[in-house]
Amino acid sequence: MKLSGLPQPLVAAALLVGSILGGSNALAQGAGDPAAGEKKAYTCLGCHGIQHYVNVYPSYHVPLIAGQNAAYLTAALQAYQSGERQHQTMQANADLLSDQDIADITSWLESVGGEAGTDQKGEAPDAATTCVACHGPTGLSAAPQWPALAGQYKSYIEQSLKSYQTGERNNAIMMGIAATLSDDDIRDLAEYYSAQQGPLVTAPINN
Ligand code: HEC
Ligand code: HEC
Repeated sequence: MKLSGLPQPLVAAALLVGSILGGSNALAQGAGDPAAGEKKAYTCLGCHGIQHYVNVYPSYHVPLIAGQNAAYLTAALQAYQSGERQHQTMQANADLLSDQDIADITSWLESVGGEAGTDQKGEAPDAATTCVACHGPTGLSAAPQWPALAGQYKSYIEQSLKSYQTGERNNAIMMGIAATLSDDDIRDLAEYYSAQQGPLVTAPINN
């Protein structure tokens, strides 16, 4: 793994925090049941189960969450619940979920992903040298607490990076990193990661 551009202690601290949080979540919730999760996720599919569905004001694609790391999805839902991450509709949806619901839904979502390719598509922009340590050379992240970016919608990646810049998403690691990016960097990074082949897919509707 190439670790250029990022102070090693930051990566080590991120890994440590991630493993502590991941560990306590697993203990608090018990194991997720994917079959129960599929049923509980029914209300989510009205948005996450429709290809190219768009959030309005501002306009960007509703993120692909099937195939995403369960530990990251858990952290994201908890961030909506705590208000660390702001988005009215998602906060309302997350507020209805118990810890066990979250464990079940996220284990189902992770289990229905697509194939992750390893071939790099196109050339990584210079700004990506900072991202490699955590998100990997093609957006397949090094730890389950970190989101896969490969194949995610371009407009959603742009929106997330801008939300870290404005503080709508309050995450110490990503806020510091996003603050260093220009609008052009954000566009190029979103273009690059969205073009990679990852496990992220539209959530399947089977019933
Ligand atoms: C009305 C449409 C809608 C519904 C219903 C909905 N979502 Fe979302 N979801 C969104 C949008 C829009 C975002 C992006 C919000 C943002 O920018 O933070 C999102 C983001 C997320 C994220 C963060 C993804 C990431 O990569 O960080 C997760 C996890 C998630 N939703 C899970 C769920 C679950 C689980 C349910 C059902 C309990 C659900 N959503 C229902 C529209 C919806
Ligand atoms: C030290 C590790 C680390 C580095 C370096 C890093 N990230 Fe992240 N990234 C994370 C973590 C942790 C999260 C989840 C934060 C949260 O919960 O909001 C994240 C979240 C994201 C998201 C949101 C994804 C989603 O599904 O909502 C995007 C986009 C992103 N990073 C892009 C980048 C880019 C582009 C770079 C390089 C310029 C970068 N990251 C560098 C750890 C890192």
